[in-house]
Amino acid sequence: MREFTRQRRIPLVLIVAGVLALAASVWVIPNLNRAEGQQALYDRLGGKEAITAVVDDFVNRTVADSRVNGRFAFTDAKKFKASNVELICEATGGPCTYQGQDMKRAHAGMRISNAEFDILAKHLTATLKKFKVPKQERKGLLEIIGSLRKDIVETS
Ligand code: HEM
Repeated sequence: MREFTRQRRIPLVLIVAGVLALAASVWVIPNLNRAEGQQALYDRLGGKEAITAVVDDFVNRTVADSRVNGRFAFTDAKKFKASNVELICEATGGPCTYQGQDMKRAHAGMRISNAEFDILAKHLTATLKKFKVPKQERKGLLEIIGSLRKDIVETS
């Protein structure tokens, strides 16, 4: 009889422990996620489709700007946009692998100035505002792009 009760109790204990562990994980996991930060910037920006729309508008503004468009006189805009989408997708934590040249190599010898970089950064800001991207996400993306300045700019 005792044997029987014991045999029945062990699985019961395991079931109770399992239910408690499950309840704890349901409660703890979302809190852990919140503590570690929110979703990837990629998702907060709206994923690949939103990033593609942002890059499209940003590049259109850039190539319409006479202060910098001479730089892109021989550029295949479609390829250039695709490269930028991949770069931003990967850099913001999205499921992409940028396959172009690294930023130092891609801009080497162009003697790009800080002023030119600022022009592109301002176009990107204007695009993000046009698409009503919230301030925190704007800041996040502009910080990532800003971190590339040291590799892109060659003259002050
Ligand atoms: C604002 C940050 C910038 C980013 C994120 C960026 C990104 C890129 C990318 C992804 C490529 C293509 C590389 C490849 O496919 O291998 C590229 C090429 C290029 N970038 Fe930038 N760039 C930036 C700033 C600038 C600036 C300030 C200029 C000059 C005003 C510039 C001029 C160019 C040119 C001329 C090319 C070559 C395009 C071609 O293939 O004809 N970039 N850039």
